[in-house]
Amino acid sequence: MVRPIHGGNLDWAAEIAGCAPDDILDFSASINPLGIPPSAIALIRDNIDTLQHYPDPSYHKLRKALADHHGVTPEQIVVGNGAAELLTWGAYEGSKLTDFYLPSPCFADYRRAVKTFEIPTKFYPLDALEKGFKEDTSPSGLIINNPHNPTGKLWDKPTLQRHLNKFALVIIDEAFMDFITPEYAPSLIDLVTDYPNLIVVRSLTKFYAIPGLRLGYAITNPQRCQTWQQWRDPWSVNNFASLVGETVIKDQEFQQKTYQWLTPARIALENALKQNPLFAPLPSAVNFLLVKTKIPSSQLQQKLLKQSQILIRDCLSFPELGDDFFRIAIRTPQENQRLIDALNMAYDP
Ligand SMILES: Cc1ncc(COP(=O)(O)O)c(C=O)c1O
Repeated sequence: MVRPIHGGNLDWAAEIAGCAPDDILDFSASINPLGIPPSAIALIRDNIDTLQHYPDPSYHKLRKALADHHGVTPEQIVVGNGAAELLTWGAYEGSKLTDFYLPSPCFADYRRAVKTFEIPTKFYPLDALEKGFKEDTSPSGLIINNPHNPTGKLWDKPTLQRHLNKFALVIIDEAFMDFITPEYAPSLIDLVTDYPNLIVVRSLTKFYAIPGLRLGYAITNPQRCQTWQQWRDPWSVNNFASLVGETVIKDQEFQQKTYQWLTPARIALENALKQNPLFAPLPSAVNFLLVKTKIPSSQLQQKLLKQSQILIRDCLSFPELGDDFFRIAIRTPQENQRLIDALNMAYDP
């Protein structure tokens, strides 16, 4: 089996670990370990019959629920089969631009989306978002990822807002923004009305633990939403995803539980890693940690799989990071302890 470029490939990991995919403890995909919200599970069980019908191609109820949640209008929302689908349309939207600026390092799917339409790319170092771009970028597109995968870095709103006047098109991927408590989340959603060149992409797959269901959305100006609606497959979001999206976005109990779990779990995991001189975690605002390692991460990954059936994310698909870093999701305190014990057993500090 080929080495995966995304996290979460359990079949590949299970082959190396010599166990069933279900027996792998997966730290490689940054998914909420509280699991699928019970409200979503009940909904899927009770609505099997809806599979006999096509989804509403305008996804009106889903867009209304998302719009109410974010304080925008349904006309400013277009839904998709995960954020990944919206990234494709975002790249297509920019296919007549001179080039796209992509963060370095970045989520591999940006390269996939931009390459699909043969758009020239330029990579920018992350600190360019603070320092600014010296050249004329007015004919170019910009992709920003906030919070940033794989570093966990979070930029404030003024730092990002000043780029909106400097680029022809700005796609901001906020796939992990839900993990920040709303009062501290520096989302650019409320700038969409004033900046027609801004597209905010969001995902429900990470926070609500439904990567297999696939659901994301873009918030942008209404005209663009209409155009994308004409470009796309009419029913790319299935009935279950649509119903689940409408419901979980209002599930405050699940949201509160997630906020309560995340910060203490992240601090504890970060501190435990720092006890081992081989590992140095970078500060993170979200539900994963990028860790600098003195043991090559691909070697460490194999050892943890064979020894403990634990899967971590090597960083070989981020060429700037290579074997010097690995990325781990924050999981429950007990699971995080299993990882720490496995790391310490593999390489005694
Ligand atoms: C930064 C980032 N954006 C978008 C996605 C894709 O999300 P979705 O599952 O909604 O397609 C991922 C998935 O790992 C991601 O890391």
